[in-house]
Amino acid sequence: MQKNRQKIVVMGLGYIGLPTASMLATKGHEVVGVDINEEAVNTINSGRIHIVEPDLDILVRSAVNSGNLRASLVPEEADTFIIAVPTPFKNGEQAHLKIPDVSYVDAATRAIAPFLREGSLIILESTSPVGTTEAIGEIVKQLRPDLAQHPGTNNHSPQVFIAHCPERVLPGHIIRELVDNDRIIGGINKASAEKARDLYNTFCNGTIFLTDSKTAEMSKLVENSFRDVNIAFANELSLISDRVGVNVWDVIELANRHPRVNILNPGPGVGGHCIAVDPWFVVSAAPEEARLIRTAREVNDHKPHWVMNKIKAKAERFKEPVIGCLGLSFKANIDDLRESPAMEITRGLISSGVGRVMACEPNVCNGSAGMELHELSQVLREADILVVLVDHDEFKTIDKELLKEKVVIDTRGVWR
Ligand SMILES: NC(=O)c1ccc[n+]([C@@H]2O[C@H](COP(=O)([O-])OP(=O)(O)OC[C@H]3O[C@@H](n4cnc5c(N)ncnc54)[C@H](O)[C@@H]3O)[C@@H](O)[C@H]2O)c1
Repeated sequence: MQKNRQKIVVMGLGYIGLPTASMLATKGHEVVGVDINEEAVNTINSGRIHIVEPDLDILVRSAVNSGNLRASLVPEEADTFIIAVPTPFKNGEQAHLKIPDVSYVDAATRAIAPFLREGSLIILESTSPVGTTEAIGEIVKQLRPDLAQHPGTNNHSPQVFIAHCPERVLPGHIIRELVDNDRIIGGINKASAEKARDLYNTFCNGTIFLTDSKTAEMSKLVENSFRDVNIAFANELSLISDRVGVNVWDVIELANRHPRVNILNPGPGVGGHCIAVDPWFVVSAAPEEARLIRTAREVNDHKPHWVMNKIKAKAERFKEPVIGCLGLSFKANIDDLRESPAMEITRGLISSGVGRVMACEPNVCNGSAGMELHELSQVLREADILVVLVDHDEFKTIDKELLKEKVVIDTRGVWR
């Protein structure tokens, strides 16, 4: 039995909330996972999972079987509330400035407000614009004036503790990284940060660094902006290399032999709901200053169009071209299609009518990608043009003989 056993409500049972809830449950805490998706709630309560992540099925099964994890559509009273809901940008925004959408965080905060009590801890795990954690405090103040600070107390003795603990796990390695990664915890005050650290200490092996909530929010956004800017550099190099007639993979491999150079890999663009989204939270907060970060977003967002044009140019050689698109997810060996450049390219090709497009995504079942999917062997057999969009393991090991008669566009460098 966990020494500091708590009752914890986790709001949002997706890629972050479900592993976190299950991990806490297997460490002996009593966990209620809350989601607005009824199907997800029912699936989890039966000990199964509704998303693909290695070893998550085992973790969830063991958490549910232990009796420490149950899923629900509604929150209830608890010691700690963890918010792990989506933070996308607003739909329909003009391309030049995308505005963060914190309405899910807002809704989750309002849903837990009636269940807060003196001494409750709220932890925001969602990647959030600077100031969101403090805004949670404002909502709580508004909805629960009974939990406002006692007259005469200072900021160090809040009635409700609130902290931001950004998540930085890598999809495909979430279970391991949840335990091993270093964590940053930013409190609206020191007491909040310390209280949150006590909880993370029950399952984290990494070092935990305490700071204020705004610095924690910014550090997470900066991590992803750093990645985006560096990937944009690699993507720009791929365009320049193509123009001047050199192989970008050779260029990068050789340049990286320099002891202080470490160029990342180019690809078909940048996807996922983190690196392709979070830099906009920085840009929208400081549009005048964040010029490099914005340009990196634009470079990476442009890459799928460049790839599409390359494919269309090759397709002109064929009377009735068959184009095999290998991979749809935003990165290797996962099923996550969000903001995926591979999806954008494949959809774009289909709607352009350039030829017959055969998509292959081994991590997604037919029907859930909004297009017909094909077996790898069939695509390799029938396609005239093969486009590698994701570096899934399945694609790395194919017999290169099969490529001999094909036009190959390898955006990931797996068949070089
Ligand atoms: N997935 C990652 O690899 C990753 C990594 C780091 C940070 N993050 C951040 O973590 C947050 C969550 O991301 P995710 O990938 O888990 O998203 P997700 O879409 O997989 O899961 C979010 C879940 O929240 C549920 N939800 C929405 N509104 C709700 C509400 N009001 N109450 C309860 N549940 C609600 C949704 O139904 C969904 O199941 C985001 O801010 C994301 O940027 C994600």
